[in-house]
Amino acid sequence: MSDRYAVIGNPIAHSKSPQIHAAFARQTGQDVEYSRLLAPVDGFRAAVVEFRGSGGRGLNVTLPFKLEAFDLADDVSARAKDARAANFLSFDGARIRADNTDGAGLIADLTANLGVALESRRVLLLGAGGAAQGVLGPLLGCQPAILAIANRSVDKALRLAESVRHQPGAAHTVVSAHGYPELAGHHFDLVINATSSSLQGEVPPLPDGIFAPGSLAYDMMYAKEPTPFLAFALTQGAARIADGLGMLVEQAAESFFLWRGVRPGTASVIDLLRSL
Ligand code: ATR
Repeated sequence: MSDRYAVIGNPIAHSKSPQIHAAFARQTGQDVEYSRLLAPVDGFRAAVVEFRGSGGRGLNVTLPFKLEAFDLADDVSARAKDARAANFLSFDGARIRADNTDGAGLIADLTANLGVALESRRVLLLGAGGAAQGVLGPLLGCQPAILAIANRSVDKALRLAESVRHQPGAAHTVVSAHGYPELAGHHFDLVINATSSSLQGEVPPLPDGIFAPGSLAYDMMYAKEPTPFLAFALTQGAARIADGLGMLVEQAAESFFLWRGVRPGTASVIDLLRSL
């Protein structure tokens, strides 16, 4: 019988993870079955216990359960501790292991796929919710010169900035927190949208002129058409735009590697998803 994995969330029907992992399994010859698991909003723990009890080997975890996954695990990686959330569970042996592959997925997409060198660059992170928190530590690890966090509720941005001030790597980077109007007059090489604004068809209220020449605008959301943020970035002079499809595939590849010990290639899978 194949080793069983799944992505658990609510809602879950939209998830592309089964297609991604099926492509990884074909490519690497691993005998893996990967499905979608819808858990009731108040029934995450019971769904995990049942999946594990029926022989499941591991889960990817998506909204709204990443915090519960973190709390449920016996062993938690440093990356998950930094993110205070887990998108990965492994059930090998008696203990439940949690990790967070989202940040690694973003960094792999930016550096390996998009060829962006983050060291000494000016980076602006939009948002201060779970998605922003999940990628902050890995971004700092790349030692940008500036890592500015902007949010509508400035207190949340301040708390996030404060939480990483003592992290290794933070010594190389000026970490700051801002409301959107304060960004006027500043310029960034990379602007990452980690807000959920694109889901509502909105754009964070950015002042004009923040995209430096040659800059990349990156939306952690993905869609067939450029997201509202990416469309806005083009009108504002961003040189390049990218959505979060590459990050999705890269975080999946990292999960596959943690479970199976084999690292799948991602370029053909990103192309496949774009073509669907
Ligand atoms: P997630 O886990 O996706 O980060 P979250 O924790 O609810 O979800 O956080 C949503 C983030 O998107 C927050 O930073 C939120 O800003 P506020 O904290 O000021 O509410 C941000 N956000 C959502 N809609 C937005 C919009 N239309 N414009 C700007 N920021 C928005």
